[in-house]
Amino acid sequence: MPLLLNKDQVVNVLDMKDCIGALDAAFTEMAEGTAVLPLRNNIAPPKGLNLYMPAYLEKMNALACKVVSIYKENPTEYSLPTVMGTVLLQDSITGQVVCIMDGGYLTAVRTGAVSGLATKYLARSDEGQVAGIYGAGIQAEMQVWGVVEAGNISSAVVYDVLPEAASAFAVKWGEKLGIPIEVAAAPEAILETDVICTATTSATPLFDGAAVKPGTHINGIGSHSPGARELDTEIIKRSLLIADSREACLNEAGDVMIPISEGAITEDHIHAELAEIVAGKKGGRSSADQITLFKSNGLAIQDAATAKVAYDKAREMGIGTEVDI
Ligand SMILES: NC(=O)c1ccc[n+]([C@@H]2O[C@H](COP(=O)([O-])OP(=O)(O)OC[C@H]3O[C@@H](n4cnc5c(N)ncnc54)[C@H](O)[C@@H]3O)[C@@H](O)[C@H]2O)c1
Repeated sequence: MPLLLNKDQVVNVLDMKDCIGALDAAFTEMAEGTAVLPLRNNIAPPKGLNLYMPAYLEKMNALACKVVSIYKENPTEYSLPTVMGTVLLQDSITGQVVCIMDGGYLTAVRTGAVSGLATKYLARSDEGQVAGIYGAGIQAEMQVWGVVEAGNISSAVVYDVLPEAASAFAVKWGEKLGIPIEVAAAPEAILETDVICTATTSATPLFDGAAVKPGTHINGIGSHSPGARELDTEIIKRSLLIADSREACLNEAGDVMIPISEGAITEDHIHAELAEIVAGKKGGRSSADQITLFKSNGLAIQDAATAKVAYDKAREMGIGTEVDI
């Protein structure tokens, strides 16, 4: 019988290390042609937007579809969250639905995990690096977890326009990860770090790209719509640019689309997709001084791989409720 996993149960079963490992396998499948990743479908009834994100990973036997709804009036009119997500996981051999699970926390973990994966392949390899996090929301939380799990990070700095959010973040994640986390008083302080994650809702650049240190690795995960960006043209120009998907970067990411529209770069400035780097089909960082930048828009293969991890772990731990549909 299919298993139902609520948010607390998904939180219980998902570990960042397992998820980074699953995404390593998923991006390898993408490079080797055993992943099916159709275009996202959208339906927009009058009050909101619904996104349907299907994917299939043949070797992992992960066949899933995530449904995300974004309804801005939900909190005031219906006492419901603005964004809700649910994942349906099927057995690819029989087509049977094996699990229905909450997709909100899963989305955050898989987004942290892909930044972890990009950091593992693109950041410098020296020990004792510092992570710098822009934003202190749920995505930022998973970013620090992802990069600490995958990189050579021994401390972190966080900056948020809401200082109290940054302070709470520093206490919670400093304890959880066992590393010192400082709160930055100004956004420029983050530019002193080695691995930067941008995880905010800002529609305008967070920092001056000319001031970024040689050798920095950046994971840009927020503000992915054509007219919004967290990263300025200068940092895009200075970086070895890696996309989760070229297509997504060229159609959804203001971080990349705005510099192209300004004539500052062409589409060829995207050096590779992460899958090509993971599978060894293209090279990544070529020197300790190079700035590397991973632009994440979020791919359905990340959801499918992470949902499979959650389901397998839940079965192993005896967590969840079986339902007869
Ligand atoms: N790439 C992906 O796959 C992916 C997946 C999910 C969400 N996202 C994006 O991640 C971003 C963050 O999402 P969230 O759920 O954590 O949002 P959130 O609202 O929980 O947190 C965002 C934080 O950013 C802070 N912030 C806003 N402007 C800032 C600025 N200029 N400098 C510093 N901090 C600033 C806010 O104060 C807030 O604390 C959103 O843009 C979302 O669309 C990306």
